[in-house]
Amino acid sequence: MLSRPADKDDLNGKTFHQNIFDASSFLPEAFVDLLIADPPYNMRKCYNGTSFSRRTEDEYEEYTERWISSLKHTLKPNASVYICSEWQCSGAVQRAASRHFSIQNRITWQREKGRGAKKNWKNSSEDVWFCTVGSKYTFNVESVKQKKKVIAPYRDNLGEPKDWQREGENAFRLTHPSNIWFDITVPFWSMAENTEHPTQKPEKLIAKLILASSNEGDFIFDPFLGSGTTSVAAKKLGRKFAGIEQEEYYCCLAEKRLENAGESQSIQGYKDGCFWDRNCL
Ligand SMILES: C[S@@+](CC[C@H](N)C(=O)[O-])C[C@H]1O[C@@H](n2cnc3c(N)ncnc32)[C@H](O)[C@@H]1O
Repeated sequence: MLSRPADKDDLNGKTFHQNIFDASSFLPEAFVDLLIADPPYNMRKCYNGTSFSRRTEDEYEEYTERWISSLKHTLKPNASVYICSEWQCSGAVQRAASRHFSIQNRITWQREKGRGAKKNWKNSSEDVWFCTVGSKYTFNVESVKQKKKVIAPYRDNLGEPKDWQREGENAFRLTHPSNIWFDITVPFWSMAENTEHPTQKPEKLIAKLILASSNEGDFIFDPFLGSGTTSVAAKKLGRKFAGIEQEEYYCCLAEKRLENAGESQSIQGYKDGCFWDRNCL
């Protein structure tokens, strides 16, 4: 728990059990290269006994405004910020974020899993807003190219492969990553990364954000850490990291996962420096 102003070296590698609104004023100035925020969405949800209740859109915007304002001093001038949301709160997040940052893009993640509805479309996508503090920022496009199987390998007039390469029996192409992500599943119970956290993000999704928007040794910070996905992916990818989470049990899940990440650096769906299309590996 932070109870006095902290130095960035004191934070590195740590999980803090605290409410972000109580901790933010103790965080140092300009230490964050990349902030990944996955706050409670605007719906009733119980996090280990603590409920987040649905509020009006204006109230959710005000809540978003409050946490962004409380953390702005921690960002470096060239920092990037990703904020997770879904359709019911995406508008509020966009409005609040645009008052503080330049919005560069909105990633839509097809989460797949979702509760079916009798009188509506099943809700199975999420948004991730990509924002930057200024006009200079890190974006390593080569690190997040996607490896796709080529179904009909095309050759040019000389018979050479056109934009693909052969690996064993298969032909693959490295493609630029778009802002629609179909290639990532939620951490199903059968996956090693799965925990009891009700809204755990996949490591592959967070790894993509980290690889694109930071360099090795940069500092990644997550104010709504949950089960620790951001810290775990950051550790596996050689970044500095810290996270804050208000539920003690989730802090323990995060610490356990960080301990395991010391033994295995693998991230499902990311191999040999490439993000593989689903079912390609
Ligand atoms: C959507 S979940 C994040 C899940 C996380 N990305 C993961 O992969 O496990 C939001 C988390 O924020 C925590 N939380 C909610 N309000 C908070 C606050 N004011 N300060 C710190 N943590 C908070 C909740 O307990 C919950 O674990």
